Amino acid sequence: MTIRRRELLLGVPAVGAATLLAGYGRAGARAPGPGPTGQLELYSWWTDGPEQNGLLALLTEFKGRAPLLSCYNGARSSRAAGRPQAELERRLAAGDPPDTFQCHAGAELAELVAPGRLADLDQLYRRQGWAEQFPAALLPQLRSGDSYYCVPVDIHRANVLWSSPAVLERAGADPAPVSIAALLENLRRVARTGLVPLAVGGSWCRKHLLETVLLAEVGPEGWAALWSGEGWGAPRVAAALRDFRDLLALSNLADPAMLGWEDATALVGGGRAGYQVMGDWAEGFLRGTLGLRPRVGFEWAAVPGTAGVFQYLSDAFALPAGARHREAALAWLAECGSLDGQVAFNGAKGAIPARLDLPEQTRALFGPYARWSLDEWRGGRIVGSLTHGVVAPTAWNARIDTALADFLAHRDPGRFQAALVTAAGPATRP
Ligand code: GAL
Repeated sequence: MTIRRRELLLGVPAVGAATLLAGYGRAGARAPGPGPTGQLELYSWWTDGPEQNGLLALLTEFKGRAPLLSCYNGARSSRAAGRPQAELERRLAAGDPPDTFQCHAGAELAELVAPGRLADLDQLYRRQGWAEQFPAALLPQLRSGDSYYCVPVDIHRANVLWSSPAVLERAGADPAPVSIAALLENLRRVARTGLVPLAVGGSWCRKHLLETVLLAEVGPEGWAALWSGEGWGAPRVAAALRDFRDLLALSNLADPAMLGWEDATALVGGGRAGYQVMGDWAEGFLRGTLGLRPRVGFEWAAVPGTAGVFQYLSDAFALPAGARHREAALAWLAECGSLDGQVAFNGAKGAIPARLDLPEQTRALFGPYARWSLDEWRGGRIVGSLTHGVVAPTAWNARIDTALADFLAHRDPGRFQAALVTAAGPATRP
């Protein structure tokens, strides 16, 4: 089912994994129906495939609490050109906010708070006891100053290497190379079969690959230093940029059909490409949309060089100051932070719940990928994602985007590094 702009969302049937998972672990202080009435405009770029399924699963759960409310998504399709956040930013600046919108925890949230565009959620946090239920490492990314401004609905992992067992078997390649050098060697093996070695989607997918390669080379401490502006001129960054150049040379970067991440994931899932570096929303697509069995139709591993490090991002919903339907939005936010909502949503989307109190019997209902991810999240070293809003504000991201676009034209790692050093100048830092 495709959601078109302003189409009503409530009343749709529950889908796939959501149906299986919903209803477990009832907890949280949410009012039983009939709940709020009237309308709720939410704004989310999850308008296709498994991402939309996740949103629908959450909305279906919400329908039980707010049967009289009509909800609709004011966002355009995530596959349209440009950043999905751009239209939202225009609306917020024009004083025409939706009632609630999707955003990322971390730097992206902080810059929305600064101009007074968001209402704080402190009362809701107190009522729900969320400060005890969300991980301590995540809480500061949900706050600005002493107040909370968004409710996390998931934890995604960015540094995942997806692969096609069929292609790798044919090429004699390894699903879990231990270093970027080893990955390059395996990509060359796939290249000899005539298939695509590394599938890369359009726009931000290149930056997503870049950030994982940087992390592999500089390590978690070096990664943290980069986002306080240190270390961009270091030899390790130079090495990462050479790796990045070599990886792109073994990719299908020039293929104009690679518009979104799903196009690249479809190549891996369809046995036409060996590997893809992508966040774990790819799992929702491989399993949910393509119907592939984990470890049979697709494989995964940490991006080489990042084993034991969980590069996370967290999708959240926020309440704009001046939301027209504030009570309905608060009810939606309570749903987003609830255990039932998070279980239904994440089962369909490929992510894991942000809440810590997932009962063992519910955990068993998640697939092998999510169980792996839950273990990695608990035991791993946690670092934030660049592309998905955690570590750097939009202005810095935009400068990196420009440097990257130039690099794709000139392919000179030295020039690229110089541009990244300039991009890290004080003007871009908060
Ligand atoms: C991210 C978002 C994920 C997923 C991904 C691809 O920014 O946080 O949930 O939607 O984009 O669309």
